[in-house]
Formats: sequence, structure tokens, C-alpha cells
Amino acid sequence: MQNRQVVLTERAGGIPRPEHFELTTAEVPGTPAGGLLIRNHYLSVDPAMRGWINDTKGYLAPVPIGGVMRSLAVGEVVGSDSPDYREGDFVTGWFGWQEIAAVDTDKVIRKVHQSEGPLTASLGVLGLNGITAYLAFTGIGKPEPGETVLVSTAAGAVGSIVGQIARLKGCRTVGLTGSDDKVSQCTEEFGYDAALNYKTCGDLSAAVAAACPDGIDIFFDNTAGPIADSVFGAMNLFGRIIQCGTASIANWEPLPEGPRRERFFITKRLLQQGFVVFDHFDKWPETIDRLSAWLKSGELRYREDIRDGLGEAPQALLDLYEGTNRGKTLIRV
Ligand SMILES: NC(=O)c1ccc[n+]([C@@H]2O[C@H](COP(=O)([O-])OP(=O)(O)OC[C@H]3O[C@@H](n4cnc5c(N)ncnc54)[C@H](OP(=O)(O)O)[C@@H]3O)[C@@H](O)[C@H]2O)c1
Repeated sequence: MQNRQVVLTERAGGIPRPEHFELTTAEVPGTPAGGLLIRNHYLSVDPAMRGWINDTKGYLAPVPIGGVMRSLAVGEVVGSDSPDYREGDFVTGWFGWQEIAAVDTDKVIRKVHQSEGPLTASLGVLGLNGITAYLAFTGIGKPEPGETVLVSTAAGAVGSIVGQIARLKGCRTVGLTGSDDKVSQCTEEFGYDAALNYKTCGDLSAAVAAACPDGIDIFFDNTAGPIADSVFGAMNLFGRIIQCGTASIANWEPLPEGPRRERFFITKRLLQQGFVVFDHFDKWPETIDRLSAWLKSGELRYREDIRDGLGEAPQALLDLYEGTNRGKTLIRV
């Protein structure tokens, strides 16, 4: 039996495209000593992958050329040499863009229980995206009722959850997104008080200021670049800026230039902090319980963009940088 895999063939040096990957086959491996054999059901596709495949210093080592593309996945244990897992268990972890993964148990993040909801949720709203939204927003943003929260990539897998949590915390929410149908999603599906299409609204600084008449207390930034630059003038005294992503920057070498913002930090006493969800594995279980309770009570909604077949993964990744995804992007294997 063959194991189909998507391997990295070339470093993109910017936005990864399908030609930087290849669909290959390998022998199905045996269960490793002390480890697990996992049949992947769904694979995650994430904007962070651009950073993982570039040969620059990041928070994870670059994926090697010829290596299976690193990804989170959810699958079923089909072979176990570990006392902690049995065949039939469902687990999420670092299993890669492939049909079958032979892994040590340290690659497993957690067991997934059917009572939590659909399997796919374990990769999105109850996984990387929802946990990032909750921990970064509450931990750095420290929201108070009545405050104004601005979110970039507001309709996306992380942003849509941030907007809803902010509303649940009693904040006024404003979203920035890249198309009119996503603007409608923001206000109709995810409960934002207002949303702007940053591509068509004209002077973005003026549009942001008009949409936030009381100023902005918390800016949850997933894009950096010109979108973020348009926000600083509207930040309130003691505002908090959560640096979660940099979706608008294709390449960090050479360092992109932009406006100097330091004066705003002094005069408005702003706080800006970066966030990486993998620093907080200890808080994942309680966060999943919190998000899962909101899902069950109907207070939290989410969208998924599920593509069929391993071979779709590279195009699905490119679609994230072109903004054509509609919710958490997943590959059904
Ligand atoms: N720090 C962490 O631990 C962590 C964890 C998970 C995710 N993240 C970050 O969170 C952000 C959102 O991730 P996600 O998984 O929820 O993806 P997503 O928002 O569902 O999809 C990515 C979105 O990025 C926007 N985008 C793409 N290219 C852009 C550009 N050039 N300028 C402005 N916006 C652009 C598009 O939305 P629009 O159409 O609205 O522009 C696109 O739909 C990413 O920056 C990601 O790296 C960080």
C-alpha cells in the first residue's frame, strides 16, 4: 500500500505556490517503537506555512526541501506501540500533509473526543484558530465592557472568533476585511457592529476613524502593513495592540519600510505585544472547554472551507494569501 504525501520541492522566498510542492508516494511505514501510526482525516492549511517553508529564522525550524509539508492534522490511530493510545482513538498533532503518519507520541497534541463536536472543529475553532483568538485577545487585550475592538482579517478563521469573543465580553466590534461578501459575513454571521472592505473604502484611516467614533481600545492585528498603519491615529489612550499575524507582508527580507509609529506609543501610552499560540499548550484544555461551551450554547459560530483530496493542499494554501478562502481552510484526505 502507498502513502501519498505533499513534499516541499523549492523555497518560495515569498508567497508559496503549487509549483513549490509535489505530490509523491512512499511505502506505508510501520508503527514506530513507542509511537503511533495515524490515518489522517483532515489536514490544516495555515497562513503561517509561508514562514515555515522559508529559510529564515522563525519560531520553528524551516521544513527541509524534500520533506513532507509540516501541518497540523486530525486522524485516527491505526497502530499503537504506546500505552497511552489505542487503535480507534482520534488525535490532533503534527502529522503533516500526508495520508498516513508514523510519529513519536510527542507529535500528538491531544486526543479528540466525539462529544466536542465535529472532527474538523479540532483544527479550527477548537484548535489553532479558536485558541489563538481566545488567549491572545483576553490575555493581551484585557477587554472591558464598552470598549471598541478593531480586528483585521475579521472574517477569517482567527478574526471571526475574535470578533465574537469581543462581543461576548461586551465590547463594540469593528472588522476589516477584503471583500463585500466578507463584510456581510462579519455583520450578519459574526455579529460585528460594523465592517469595512479595506480594498474599496477609499481613505482607510478616515474610514476606520468614522467606523470607530469613540476611538479604538484594542486592535487585534493579523495583517500588519498599510492596513495596520491606518489604525494608529484612532487608537485611544492606553490602547492595546495584539500582533497575531502579518498577512500583508510577503517577505521580511529586506525589511519592509513603513511609517514611524513610535510617537503614538508615547502620546497614547500604547502597549503592543506579539503572540504565538504554541507557547501556551498548558492553557489549551481550559480554552477548548470555554470555546466548546460557547459552541454548544450557540453563542459562537464558525465557518469552514473544506477541499477534497491531498493534492488540493498547495492551491488551498495559495488561496489564503489571495483571500479567496471562506473560513478555516481544511483538506479532507
Ligand atoms: N500568532 C499565532 O499564534 C497565530 C495562530 C494562528 C493564526 N495566526 C495568524 O492569524 C492570521 C489569520 O489566520 P487564519 O488562519 O485565521 O487565516 P484566515 O484569516 O482565515 O485567512 C487568511 C486571510 O488573510 C487575509 N489576507 C491574505 N493576504 C492579505 C494581504 N496581502 N493583505 C491583507 N490581508 C490579507 C485574507 O483575508 P481578507 O480577505 O479579509 O483580507 C485571507 O482570507 C494570519 O496572519 C496568521 O498567521 C497567528
